[in-house]
Amino acid sequence: MARGLFISFEGIDGAGKSTHMDRVAQMFREAGRPVVLSREPGGTPLSEKLRELVLHEPMNALTEALLMFAARREHLVQVIEPALARGAVVLCDRFTDATFAYQGGGRGFDWQVLAQLERMVQSLPGGGLRQPELTVWFDLDPHIAAQRLASARVPDKFESQPADFFAAVRAGYARRMAEMPGRFARIDAAQNIDAVGADVGRVVSEWMKRTAA
Ligand code: TYD
Repeated sequence: MARGLFISFEGIDGAGKSTHMDRVAQMFREAGRPVVLSREPGGTPLSEKLRELVLHEPMNALTEALLMFAARREHLVQVIEPALARGAVVLCDRFTDATFAYQGGGRGFDWQVLAQLERMVQSLPGGGLRQPELTVWFDLDPHIAAQRLASARVPDKFESQPADFFAAVRAGYARRMAEMPGRFARIDAAQNIDAVGADVGRVVSEWMKRTAA
C-alpha cells in the first residue's frame, strides 16, 4: 500500500487556491491514488459548526485561536489521521499555517501561544508533530486579492478586513515559511490562472518525484 500524503493549500482570501486544489486532486486520481479533499476550519460535522461560529461571530482573540484548534483536533482525529493510515492523499484547503498567518500575523495574537496549541493538538503518539508534508502557498499582493474578491461574494468576517490586515496575514505566511522552509512551495498567484495552474502542477509532481511519493 502507498503511504498517505498530506498536502495543504494556503494563501490570503482571493488568492485563488480552491480552483487549483481540484486539479491536484485530479492529478492524484489519474495516478490511481485515493484522494480526500477537505478544508479548515471544517471537515467534520462538529468542525463545520465551529467554522460557522468563527467565521461569523465576533469574539476574543484567544477564543478564536482555541476554536480554530478545536476544529482542527476533530478534523485530525476523525478524518486526516484515518485517511493517512489507509494510504490516501489528503488535500486540505488551509491548515495550521492559516492560524499563524491570520490569528498570529493578521490579528497580532501571540505566536508562541499558537505554537503551544499546535504542539498540543498535532503531536503524534511516537513523538513529533503532524504537519503537511507539502504546503502550497498562493502568494498574492493584498490589493490584487481585494480586487478579485470585490466582485465575488458576500464577505465573511475575515474577508471583510482591510488590505493592511491581509498584508499582515501575508507576512505571517512568510514568517512560517522562513521557520519551516522544507515543506513550503511559494506560488506567484498574481499570474494568470493557467500559469498558476502550471506552477502548481510542476511543484506537486517535482515534490512527488523527490519524495518518491
Ligand atoms: P476560506 O478557506 O477562504 O474558505 P472560503 O473560500 O469558503 O471563503 O475561508 C476560511 C477563512 O478562515 C479565511 O478567511 C481564513 C480564516 N482562517 C483563520 O483565520 N484561521 C485558521 O486557522 C483557518 C484554517 C482559517
